[in-house]
Amino acid sequence: MSTTLDVSRRAAAQAQPNIALIKYWGKRDLRLNLPVVGSLSITLDTLWTRTEVRFDDALSADTMTLNGKVDAKQLKRTSACLDLLRARAGVTTRAEVISENNFPTGAGLASSASGFAAMVMAGDAALGLRLTPAEQSVLARRCSGSAARSIFGGYVEWAHGQQADGEDSVATPLLEAAAWPLSVAVAITSTAEKAIGSTEGMNRTADTSPYQQAWIDSQDADLAEARAAIAARDFERLADISEHSCLKMHALALAAKPGLLYWNAATVAAMHCVRGLRAKGLPVFFTIDAGPQLKAVCLPSAAAAVAAALREVPGVLNVVETGLGGPARLIPVADLAAA
Ligand code: PMV
Repeated sequence: MSTTLDVSRRAAAQAQPNIALIKYWGKRDLRLNLPVVGSLSITLDTLWTRTEVRFDDALSADTMTLNGKVDAKQLKRTSACLDLLRARAGVTTRAEVISENNFPTGAGLASSASGFAAMVMAGDAALGLRLTPAEQSVLARRCSGSAARSIFGGYVEWAHGQQADGEDSVATPLLEAAAWPLSVAVAITSTAEKAIGSTEGMNRTADTSPYQQAWIDSQDADLAEARAAIAARDFERLADISEHSCLKMHALALAAKPGLLYWNAATVAAMHCVRGLRAKGLPVFFTIDAGPQLKAVCLPSAAAAVAAALREVPGVLNVVETGLGGPARLIPVADLAAA
């Protein structure tokens, strides 16, 4: 088989970040990027990554441009992801990757989830691999765990999997966004890149947190509870289990040595704000990932009140409102230039 392409091949894709309601934290296999627990998420709509991948035999190395700037920091992970696609296609051709996020990168808004989901989908199309969504999810997982979930829209579960090769650790859609629309208000409390990335944080937690085993042992019950809440469209039930999973993940990480503290003062103030709104009867709960942003998830009827309340919280810089979105999809290459 030829290891080069005879023509330059390009494609572009858009994927949205997802927010885990039942959290993923911890890897059981670093090379294959397999999780110690399953997780469950919602895919967003108005926040996106758009990525163009262009394979070209004339290139001597991969390049990565993020939001108009050459991104040397992301190049290693980008090349590792492209290598997986190249291995599937049996080529060694290098690629130019151009990516745009319409939200802050690296601050707990899952830019790696939407980023790698978009890259895998665009790379697949550019190389003509014709992967199924499940195969795309497996490849995206190897690039960034949570990216496995951003291949799909709405409510998504990423399975822990049983196989040693990890091929069954794949995301599957549980319910379409339109079947139970929820609103999300993202309270941005800092736009700085986080100091400790999720891989380093997970490894430190696994090595030093005394709660690691309890975290693993209790996850399946949380997943079952969230699945049941979603099937019944029971907001209160989903709220209770989601806040529990979020706080449990942070308690686990806080107990690492040294402890991982992803919150700032505004994050905590926003948590109290959401709890206060809920005590007053508003259907809303919070969730927080490995960064200082708080995501308030609510029924659409409460969205305006929730966003307005979060805007009043001292230290909240901005509130981004979004709904639940669809799966990753191919877009015209020209759309990226227009972004
Ligand atoms: O897959 P990563 O490296 O983006 O890690 C995601 C970890 C959390 O966002 C904290 C939880 C999750 O399930 O998304």
